Amino acid sequence: MTEQPTFHIDTLELGPMENFVYLIQDHKSGRAAVVDPAWDVDRIVELAKQRGVEITDILLTHSHHDHINGIEELLQHYDAQMHLTHAEAKFWDRYLDLPTLHHGGDVITLGDTEIRVLHTPGHTPGSACFHVGDQLIAGDTLFVFGCGRCDLSGGDPEQMYQTLRHIHSDLPGNTILLPGHNYAIKPTSTLDEQVSGNPFLHFHDSGRFVQYRMHVHDRNRNDPYGPVSQQEVDALEL
Ligand SMILES: [Fe+2]
Repeated sequence: MTEQPTFHIDTLELGPMENFVYLIQDHKSGRAAVVDPAWDVDRIVELAKQRGVEITDILLTHSHHDHINGIEELLQHYDAQMHLTHAEAKFWDRYLDLPTLHHGGDVITLGDTEIRVLHTPGHTPGSACFHVGDQLIAGDTLFVFGCGRCDLSGGDPEQMYQTLRHIHSDLPGNTILLPGHNYAIKPTSTLDEQVSGNPFLHFHDSGRFVQYRMHVHDRNRNDPYGPVSQQEVDALEL
């Protein structure tokens, strides 16, 4: 008999930038964690009420405006604890009201559900992914058939290259990818499917990756993103 998961994740697509906001709900305790509360807090609160859960935690994949602009309003509804990485707190020049700061590898406990924090720098210095069960909530690190840009303040394409290598090598192929934006032909995918169709997972050296991420990709691809083969990437003159 396969074990039933202790949790359920609902997805909301909110705001003008097609952000995905996730609500992780622990069945037994009735606790819930919102990942990247932004844009339309009423919808988040409404969903939590519908599900009969209490939002006790706020998890941030990173500190960009489009992922955090609902925090204050959400805190008017729930006394929730905020979580982010040490590195992102250092990068984020704003007052933080006693958040819990994490290193990669830390586990956030939500009732019976364990959420593992992965420190995944590249898009920002303290970007995080949250690994829960067989699902990876990836923020702006890994998108379906894409990855986060590295040309904004704190971005680093060399780090992104290493981060994506780690995700590829450390997580099982059947891991379900839950990205931070709806930029692709479908909202979710598996790591296996990304390994075969995500151009950013087709590089074997950081030099070519950096060139592609920083100077080539945005001029040659438009969303919604679809699969790109290994051969297509190998044929690029970079
Ligand atoms: Fe971002």
